[in-house]
Amino acid sequence: MVMEPSIKNIAIYLCFFFCVLSPAFAVKTCDVPAIINFGDSNSDTGGLSASLSLCTSPYGETFFRMPAGRYSDGRLIIDFTAESFGLPYLSTYLDSLGTNFTHGANFATAASTIRLPISMKPNGRSSPFYLYLQNDLGVAFFLNKSVKEVNASVPDIVKKFSANIKDIYNLGGRSFWIHNTGPIGCLPYILTYFSTPKDGAVCSNIYNEVAQHFNIKLKEAVVQLRKDFPSAGFTYVDVYSVKYSMFKEPRKYGFELPLVSCCGYGGKYRYNSGAECEETIVVNGTKIFVGSSGRLSVRVNYDGIHYTEAGARFVFHQISTGHFSDPPVPLKMACHTS
Ligand SMILES: *[C@@H]1O[C@H](CO)[C@@H](O)[C@H](O)[C@H]1NC(C)=O
Ligand SMILES: *[C@@H]1O[C@H](CO)[C@@H](O)[C@H](O)[C@H]1NC(C)=O
Ligand SMILES: *[C@@H]1O[C@H](CO)[C@@H](O)[C@H](O)[C@H]1NC(C)=O
Ligand SMILES: *[C@@H]1O[C@H](CO)[C@@H](O)[C@H](O)[C@H]1NC(C)=O
Repeated sequence: MVMEPSIKNIAIYLCFFFCVLSPAFAVKTCDVPAIINFGDSNSDTGGLSASLSLCTSPYGETFFRMPAGRYSDGRLIIDFTAESFGLPYLSTYLDSLGTNFTHGANFATAASTIRLPISMKPNGRSSPFYLYLQNDLGVAFFLNKSVKEVNASVPDIVKKFSANIKDIYNLGGRSFWIHNTGPIGCLPYILTYFSTPKDGAVCSNIYNEVAQHFNIKLKEAVVQLRKDFPSAGFTYVDVYSVKYSMFKEPRKYGFELPLVSCCGYGGKYRYNSGAECEETIVVNGTKIFVGSSGRLSVRVNYDGIHYTEAGARFVFHQISTGHFSDPPVPLKMACHTS
């Protein structure tokens, strides 16, 4: 039976984040006074939690030692990014009372889409705070759209993405750091409910193909954006390849059981949408709290949908070098335009 993932967890797919940094034209380390981020649960530092669905224990257990609005045991890629620039962690605009936004703001919310969502929370699946970001693929699969239909919707999603970049440019954004989407077919919540042929990392082949198709179209869109806005800098970051390497060669990078969630219940992938991380379920008349177990520091997936802090740290260290970027410049120099 395909069960509905609960409100907090519908997370992810299109993990973009864009930093709007201050332009500097000399070839030196960027002066970054602020980061403005748009994204979904991959980079939500408290938006959904402040608005619709409070994020509770054991989320935050590794680093913050308490729930911190993040769908992970600790820090996200955006947190490592802020740290690397000496900036405070981004405050979410949905939690604005008394908040100081001098160093930026976070517009990401878990379960966001780029397009107008088909079904919105609190009763539906997607975040009402869409970019006009990021669950266009993941949510569609759970709304029983065929892989073919979802794949066919990619050009329109990317078109809406570009339209949003134009709006942000018109608001003054000049330095854009754009993450492509990850291998959705390697996540327990997809692997549990959609059994399809597997690829070399034992991930679901066809779902990863849709993500790859999206990424090709996204990269084309970024090429066009560079032509349209020559005074802005656009860095396309291949997060997909870095994430995929954790599934393909976990031992090489110090990870184990990459396809199994730490915080979850039941089945091969330790995921069940009726018994998600932080929920209390009743099994044979006994109450069971779905908590986390396993050595978090060597695990990739935290709750069936989201990455662990260890996973996010690995991704951040790889992408900040510039080896996965187009153009191939390190994060600290990514404010420069061509
Ligand atoms: C907000 O933070 C900035 C930078 O840390 C500081 O200069 C400013 O005074 C703060 N504003 C308020 C209202 O606290
Ligand atoms: C999707 O299909 C499954 C199985 O046929 C069904 O149980 C579920 O209600 C459907 N979901 C939606 C949102 O239509
Ligand atoms: C998605 O669409 C593209 C372009 O039409 C096609 O090349 C690709 O094979 C499709 N992928 C899947 C999984 O349907
Ligand atoms: C629940 O009870 C049934 C029947 O006694 C048993 O087969 C099943 O394994 C039990 N489930 C769990 C999770 O203990």
